[in-house]
Amino acid sequence: MEIVRDIRTMREKVAEAKKQGKSVGLVPTMGYLHEGHLALIDTARKENDVVVVSDFVNPLQFGPSEDYLVYPRDMDRDAQLCQEHGVDFLFAPTVEEMYPKKGNQVDVFVDVKHLDENLCGRFRPGHFRGVVTVVTKLFNIVTPNRAYFGMKDIQQLRIIEEMVNDLNMNIEIVPVATVREPSGLALSSRNTYLTNEERAKAASIYKSLLMAKDLILEKRVLNTAEVVKRCVEFLSQQGLKVQYFQVVDYDTLELLPKIEPPHKLIIATAVFLGKVRLIDNLVIEVR
Ligand code: PAJ
Repeated sequence: MEIVRDIRTMREKVAEAKKQGKSVGLVPTMGYLHEGHLALIDTARKENDVVVVSDFVNPLQFGPSEDYLVYPRDMDRDAQLCQEHGVDFLFAPTVEEMYPKKGNQVDVFVDVKHLDENLCGRFRPGHFRGVVTVVTKLFNIVTPNRAYFGMKDIQQLRIIEEMVNDLNMNIEIVPVATVREPSGLALSSRNTYLTNEERAKAASIYKSLLMAKDLILEKRVLNTAEVVKRCVEFLSQQGLKVQYFQVVDYDTLELLPKIEPPHKLIIATAVFLGKVRLIDNLVIEVR
């Protein structure tokens, strides 16, 4: 495996591979890799001749009061894991390499409309603009045939799918299922912030999603306000502070007051455990 720090070398390596007719898979990450990231890497490894993992904590997608500076980082461990999982190139640029203007200023962005009005987008203004801008840059640098994204961040995945479609990017977006701990807690780099007690409580997040799924699919509660009320009550009883609990349309990410089968939808939540913000979701099809 080779660690690449600059854009020019990354481009040369990909050009060489493509000249030999090889397919390229990209797994964008912010590092501090866990089994969730490794599931993406393993899927990419099976489907491509060359696998590139990007490891870049993107300042553009963090709000001013968010955890950019303290976001966990461990490049040596990331490199070790990538090596073990058969990655060909670990692209780990500096902030200056990605944003070379004075003060890392960015003048031109890729923007998002509508799709960021609910779920996380509502509470993290500018976040998805930062995500799609850096992902576009990574796509332009690596020019992959396929790129891998986790369903854990369902709004991110859906927005990137729409971006590729709206902007005619010739890249196949491959979704990968959420990897969970045995307790049901979705793996996240931010889980490292949790105390043991908080980690135990965090298992309620997935339970609340299963509860919503059961209410909708089995109990046929199709009024989403009722579903949301019961799930928020449950989470609050478990001592979690709910930022949002929403049921949205899978395609448009619009809020659904009433579910009208057949309907593919997303049940998603964001909660705070102390200062730590955790998200999770389930995709269901109501028939
Ligand atoms: P990061 O949070 O590091 O996640 C990188 C990829 O891993 C994302 O596609 C995310 O959905 C996926 N992932 C994280 N936890 C997962 C889990 N438990 N199961 C399955 N997949 C999981 O998401 C980002 O970085 C950034 O926004 C990025 C796309 C790299 C742009 O900066």
